[in-house]
Amino acid sequence: MINDIIQIAKEAGGIIRNAHGTKFSVEVKSNNLKNLVTEIDKKSEKTITEFIRKNYPTHNILAEEGGEHKSSSEYLWVIDPLDGTTNFAHGLPIFSVSIGVQYKNETVAGVVYDVMRDVLYSAEKGSGAYENEKRITVNSNHSIEESLLVTGFPYNVAENPEKVFERFIEMLKVARAVRRLGSAAIDFCYVANGVFDGFWEVHLNPWDICAGKLIVEEAGGKVTDFNGNSISIFNKTILSTNGKIHNKMIELLNKV
Ligand code: IPD
Ligand code: CA
Ligand code: CA
Repeated sequence: MINDIIQIAKEAGGIIRNAHGTKFSVEVKSNNLKNLVTEIDKKSEKTITEFIRKNYPTHNILAEEGGEHKSSSEYLWVIDPLDGTTNFAHGLPIFSVSIGVQYKNETVAGVVYDVMRDVLYSAEKGSGAYENEKRITVNSNHSIEESLLVTGFPYNVAENPEKVFERFIEMLKVARAVRRLGSAAIDFCYVANGVFDGFWEVHLNPWDICAGKLIVEEAGGKVTDFNGNSISIFNKTILSTNGKIHNKMIELLNKV
């Protein structure tokens, strides 16, 4: 199955890559100028969901742009057809395709395709995490002061939900630096390969989390909520780290 997920993630990524830098239609979602969807998000999703319906017709689908399919199968495909739409719409080449597969509510396979770098992150439950063909692991840094962190902000950021501003400031003050890449799926993968020491965000959706969470865990990292509790893909708040700075980050996140 992992080879099928890889194949379709790359195919959808190819559609996105070909569209990068061209003209495409962009719409606003929920009347919020920060929240966009392009025709390419929809094209990518259609390609993926058609593949699943053809090859795994009984499986359930949960996809961001509405491609839902409910059946009594124990399998669920969780899909973000284009993670990083704001970047894509503005021509910033940081975006991905994220596909996770759950069996009996547990993620068993996850693939994140970094489209413009043509780098594929993948993991199967119990078999480690990979960047293309190379096995990857989280880094071994214990020091929050020497950490490179990443975060993201929800589309209702102006309302300061979950004290996002205060939490951001706490991290900025203590860590070496904090980045905001604009693709949660890629953020997870950069924790998995040891580039980032930690990643936190609120108000994420299952399709942002599903594949990335498994990839981090299979790389030896940790994914919890801000209190250190284990989470499902339907939890909106995530803290993902190399494991060594996890408690320190929990402390800082709860300082505000
Ligand atoms: C968004 C990206 C971004 C994160 C947002 C997500 P989208 O996904 O992952 O990094 O900060 O919360 O909604 O809308 O580009 O698929
Ligand atoms: Ca997303
Ligand atoms: Ca998306």
